[in-house]
Amino acid sequence: METVLSGIQPSGEIHVGNYLGAIRNWVAMQESYRCIFCVVDYHAITTDYDPAALGARTLDMAAGILACGVDPERSTLFVQSHVREHTELAWVLTCVTPMGDLSRMTQFKDKSAGHESVSAGLFNYPILQAADILLYRATRVPVGADQVQHLELCRELARRFNARFGETFPEPQPLLSSTPKIMGLDGQAKMSKSLGNTIAIGEPERSVRAKLRTAFTDPQRKRRTDPGRPEVCNIYTMHAFFTDAVRTGEIAGQCRAAGIGCVECKGVLADGMVAHLSTIQERTLALREDESRLRAILEAGAEKARAIARITMDDVRARLGLG
Ligand code: TRP
Ligand code: SF4
Repeated sequence: METVLSGIQPSGEIHVGNYLGAIRNWVAMQESYRCIFCVVDYHAITTDYDPAALGARTLDMAAGILACGVDPERSTLFVQSHVREHTELAWVLTCVTPMGDLSRMTQFKDKSAGHESVSAGLFNYPILQAADILLYRATRVPVGADQVQHLELCRELARRFNARFGETFPEPQPLLSSTPKIMGLDGQAKMSKSLGNTIAIGEPERSVRAKLRTAFTDPQRKRRTDPGRPEVCNIYTMHAFFTDAVRTGEIAGQCRAAGIGCVECKGVLADGMVAHLSTIQERTLALREDESRLRAILEAGAEKARAIARITMDDVRARLGLG
């Protein structure tokens, strides 16, 4: 079995965009890969954050991932900072990383734009990400479009390390997802917590309905009698996941013929979304209420991860001539 590695920042809440775009796919991948998933708290400290809130956010994220269906018996789920080798390998990789490559990273340019003071940690962020992947000699990394450049850098670092110190790391390949991009409720950009255009998977029913009611649809559908284009409508994209296939097919036809209004269409989506999310919400709550059990799951995950990480680092240290 090939090894898949993926990481997610402990932003505190999983939203519908993360769920459909990433975590749902993680759940499916457990069938055909050895999966390693980590909550990347060391990445979270590269920009301004609240130290008093980070611990709870990390646990919330882990509980959410488990509630969505990641099975800790089959997959390895852990917190990045619990496995010291991540930062150790990051330093080693830093020493084979060309500064020029880092300065071309568009995520760095976007995240640093307009900030007076930017940490070297933010600049080096993709090196830590490469360490996450190479530490487990993962061969597959599920990536969205925004992470393609980081994975390319990771591949370059594996090549450079191997060329200088001998064949050590496989070059990880992208695992492209078939999930279409989920836009934010404003329809202006990808759904993202920092843009405040999300529906959280923990969102209460009333709030799901209210948020959908005002969500962006096909801009050409100004009046109820205007025909719509489901293929450009973010609401329609979400129907594919939350509404049954027959009803989704009917909605496409009714939208094009102006047979259904957006209000009604969104109501159908809300019904499906609320039903789906409520199961996840119940499971998250149960996990969050039994914190010692949640911590034990993460500790068991870290233990499994450490066993692999130690072997890689022993090999790396020997190749570098250390110790
Ligand atoms: N940088 C990724 C993001 O912003 C998160 C991440 C950290 C990651 N380490 C990773 C993703 C390793 C894939 C593999 O979403
Ligand atoms: Fe979108 Fe539904 Fe309105 Fe069509 S009817 S534009 S699919 S919200």
